[in-house]
Amino acid sequence: MDSAKKLKKFIINTFIILGVILFVPGLPPYSKLEPFSPTPPLAFEGALDPKDYLLARAEKLFKGEIVGPESLEVSPIDSNVLYAGLDGGSIIKIFGNGTQMKTVAKLGEKCSGSWDVNNCGRPLGIRFDKDGYLIVADSYLGIYRVDCEHSGQVTNLVHKHAVIDGKVAKVFNGVAPGKDGRIYYTVTSTNYPFHEALGEMLGAPSGRLIVYNPETNENKVLQENIHFANGILLSPEEDYVVFAECFRFQLLKYFIRGSKAGTTEVFLDGLPGTPDNLNLSPEGNILIALVSVRLPGEFDPLEFMFNHPWLRKLVIRLMHLVKFPFDMVSKFFDFPFFRQIGSHVMSLSLLVPVLPPYSIIVEADWEGKIVNSWHSNSADKRLFSDAKIVNGYMYLGSPFNDFLARIKMPNSSRVPKNLKM
Ligand SMILES: *[C@@H]1O[C@H](CO)[C@@H](O)[C@H](O)[C@H]1NC(C)=O
Ligand SMILES: *[C@@H]1O[C@H](CO)[C@@H](O)[C@H](O)[C@H]1NC(C)=O
Repeated sequence: MDSAKKLKKFIINTFIILGVILFVPGLPPYSKLEPFSPTPPLAFEGALDPKDYLLARAEKLFKGEIVGPESLEVSPIDSNVLYAGLDGGSIIKIFGNGTQMKTVAKLGEKCSGSWDVNNCGRPLGIRFDKDGYLIVADSYLGIYRVDCEHSGQVTNLVHKHAVIDGKVAKVFNGVAPGKDGRIYYTVTSTNYPFHEALGEMLGAPSGRLIVYNPETNENKVLQENIHFANGILLSPEEDYVVFAECFRFQLLKYFIRGSKAGTTEVFLDGLPGTPDNLNLSPEGNILIALVSVRLPGEFDPLEFMFNHPWLRKLVIRLMHLVKFPFDMVSKFFDFPFFRQIGSHVMSLSLLVPVLPPYSIIVEADWEGKIVNSWHSNSADKRLFSDAKIVNGYMYLGSPFNDFLARIKMPNSSRVPKNLKM
C-alpha cells in the first residue's frame, strides 16, 4: 500500500473505533448531556481594565514548602494570622508576616502521600464561624468544625457518606457559616470525586447548595444541578447566599428570606473565567477569584465542547477507558504507582499546562456590579483560587501553586465601610 492509502485506512479505523466508543450502550456518562452556550466574557474595560497587572509582581511565600493553599482565612482574634488548607490534607496556620507556618489540623487518617486523597482528604473551603471555630469543607471527608485557636479539637458535622435527598456528596467545596449557627455549603459534584473533576466539568451538572442545621443535625438541599458549585458567601443581612457556578462562568443568588425565599437567580454572569472561592474585601464587597481565565475575543475549546455534547461524551468515555485498567489493578494489588496514575487521568490539574498565563481577582458589590479587578499576565503567578486582603496585603491561594502569593495593595481612595459616617 502507498502511504496515502495507509493514512486513509488509519483515519477510517480511528473513526470506527471512536464511533464504537461513542455509541456502545451502558458506559458513563449516565445522564443525558445538553448543549449550552455560556454568556461571553465581559470586555477588559472599565472595572475590568487590567491596569498595571499588579498581581504579576506578587511575591512567593513558602515556595516549594507547600502545595495548593486552596482557600485562605484570617484569624478572627489576630489579623496577623492566616489559615490555609493544603494539598495532602493539612490545615496550616501562617504567622510572622508570612515567614512561619505550623500544621494545626489534619482531618484524614492513615494518609500515605498526597496522591492518597481518599484517606488524606483535601480541605477546599475554610471559614470561621461566629464562635471562632474554623468550619472546613474537606472535599473527600465532609464538613468539620476545628477548634484551631485553642484545643485543636476536630468535630465531624456532615459525614462523607451522608445520604442527602437520595445522593452522596462526592466533593464538599465551599462553606458559609451563618450567625444563626446554620452552615451553607456547596457540593461540587454528586457524580465524580475531586480528582475526577473533569467528569463534572464535561458531564451533566450535579452540584448542590445545601444548608446544615446543627440543632437538628439535618441537611437540606436548596438548589440542585449546579454546574460545578464552588465558593459561597452569605449576604451582610444573611437574607441570601451568593455562590459560584464555575462552568457557567457566573455567580448565583439563593434567597433565604423575603418574598423570593427558596428561589435562585443569576447574580453576576459573563465572568472572564471560572469563579472559585468568594471572600469579603475590607470594604465588605465580594472578592471573586477566577482560577482559570477565558480571554475575551479568543477561541475557547471548552465553550466549543459545551455546545457539542457528543464531543464531551466521547472525551468522558475515553478518560474512563484510560483510567479503567489502573483502577482495576489498584483494586486487587496495593501498587501506589497505579493508584497515582489512575487518580490523575480525570484530574483538573491536567488542564494547567494549557490554561492561559493569566489570572484575575474581581471585586463586585452586593448588587452584582463589578467595581474593581486586579490582573496577572505572568505564567508563574496565576491559577489563583482565593483572595484575602488584610493589613494592606492581598494574599492569593491556589489549588495548584507550590507557594502562597502576596502583593502589597496600592493605597485605595475608597473609604472603608466601617469608617463611613
Ligand atoms: C513583611 O514582609 C515584607 C516583605 O515581604 C516587608 O516589606 C514588610 O515590611 C514586612 N512587614 C513587617 C510588619 O515586618
Ligand atoms: C498610603 O497611605 C498611607 C497612610 O494611610 C501613607 O502613609 C502613605 O504615604 C500612602 N502611600 C502612597 C504611595 O500614597
